[in-house]
Amino acid sequence: MRKSYIRSLGHFVPSNVVTNFDLEKMMETSDEWIQQRSGIKERRWVEPGETTTGMALKATQEALRKADLKADDIDAIIFGCLLSDYIFPGGGCLLQKELGCSKPIPAFDIRNQCSAFPYSLQLADSLIRSGVYNRILIVGSEIHSTSLDKTTRGRDVSVLFGDGAGVCIVEAAPENSKSFIIDTIVQSEGEGCQYLMIHNPSPMNHPRMQANVELDESFYPHMEGRAVFKNAVTRMCQIMGTILQKNGFKPSDVDFVVAHQANMRINQMVMNELKIPFEKTHHTIEKYGNTTAATIPITMNEAVDLGKIKRGDLVATVAFGAGFTWGASLMRF
Ligand code: ACO
Repeated sequence: MRKSYIRSLGHFVPSNVVTNFDLEKMMETSDEWIQQRSGIKERRWVEPGETTTGMALKATQEALRKADLKADDIDAIIFGCLLSDYIFPGGGCLLQKELGCSKPIPAFDIRNQCSAFPYSLQLADSLIRSGVYNRILIVGSEIHSTSLDKTTRGRDVSVLFGDGAGVCIVEAAPENSKSFIIDTIVQSEGEGCQYLMIHNPSPMNHPRMQANVELDESFYPHMEGRAVFKNAVTRMCQIMGTILQKNGFKPSDVDFVVAHQANMRINQMVMNELKIPFEKTHHTIEKYGNTTAATIPITMNEAVDLGKIKRGDLVATVAFGAGFTWGASLMRF
């Protein structure tokens, strides 16, 4: 039976570092509050000229280089993003052009926010297992900084998010490979939509765009932090328990966990609840904040580069985000 595995990863973050102290100059907040509540010390924010597609391209070039592949070796792109460089078309098509692919490969767009990675991985794994494609590029690339309310009004959200891109190349595993995706599970609950969303500009308005409209809170991300926090811990623990049990593993069998980076406290609680030692995970939230779709491939790439994840390790990834959506994957890396 065909299986797939992660052949290589890559990531890119903008060079512009924005510290908590920089935020103190924009809004009523403090380095102490942000670190205590979230674990974040700094994040990267794009500068004019940097794009979602451009960051994705740089991350992809790293993954291609590490696997000794060319753009034309990719059979399909799955692009995860809240909002690509344009309202439409999606980021996958834009990246296909920038990669310089000489053939018109398919480009899928995934809009599952912080859970984009498990959703994309399930799709890629299924398409490879079923023999439709051999090699798929999964991308998460996100610019938050230009959509945030950087005044005191938006401080509960704007201190948490950063920009960046992370990718991985998933391909058909050689026979008897010690590296393969074991399972992915993804779920959603639309009831949670109200707790984390941007309302406007919405096609429900007639017309969607109107002249001289005041840019009130409805144009910026709205988050009910406590509800999101509670649901994140509950769902991440549940889905990790489910995927481990379904595949005959105990938490103690897991060599490494790559968790979404929304809040250090969420991840501490999840690891505590699962009784997996905190050393078996890697964090990028301190320096990049929450980069939604990009977070898991960025964090996993760093962990691989640091030698924390080795080939054959039992690795779990777990994410939770707006929608609500959440998901987990289990693999022999
Ligand atoms: N600086 C200083 N004070 C602040 C800030 C800030 N940046 N933001 C809020 N506060 C204040 C509040 O106004 C409140 O003040 P009050 O007590 O006088 O009313 C106080 O701090 C406490 O606010 P809480 O919201 O209760 O703080 P909490 O401990 O819950 O932490 C946080 C807030 C960090 C947002 C937390 O709830 C959280 O991390 N939630 C989950 C975020 C998340 O997981 N997002 C999911 C993914 S995103 C995606 O999918 C797109």
